[in-house]
Amino acid sequence: MLSEKIESLLNDQVQHEFEAGNWYLSMSSWAEVNGFHGTASFFLEQSKEEHFHAMKIFHYVNDRDGHAIAPSIAKPDSEFDSIRHLFERGLELEQENTRKINVLVEAAKEEKDHATDQFLQWYVDEQVEEEDLFRTILDKLNILGEKGPGLYMLDQELGQRRAEIPGNSGTE
Ligand code: FEO
Repeated sequence: MLSEKIESLLNDQVQHEFEAGNWYLSMSSWAEVNGFHGTASFFLEQSKEEHFHAMKIFHYVNDRDGHAIAPSIAKPDSEFDSIRHLFERGLELEQENTRKINVLVEAAKEEKDHATDQFLQWYVDEQVEEEDLFRTILDKLNILGEKGPGLYMLDQELGQRRAEIPGNSGTE
């Protein structure tokens, strides 16, 4: 059984994951209407991944005899300055999420909730990967440049990414 504190923090995390997913959906739309179809696909996949992250916690809360709450989700920005802006904002979102996961891990440890602590380790590892993913793309933007063939190449490459979720073929 979850303590009230852990249940509440986990429900907050469900909300954060959905909110991140909503940001990525908005970024996908901006990229699509601006002609960056690979980038649009990348962010759509990223949005699916956040949905998966949220639902994994959602089910965990109920499995532990808590009550998972479907959250209200804040509206993200819909306008962005550039491709770089998308990935900078994405990195910020991931860094924010890492901080929230760390708070949750600390709380689980304090309460000696070993099951939750162990459950969260998957998220700890995932955050390392996600931050690295966004940093790597920002590095590539620096190398390839933000216009012409370099940007075209990067957009093509970004379109290859598929969300790491069970049964995902990457098609809608
Ligand atoms: Fe669910 Fe991108 O962290």
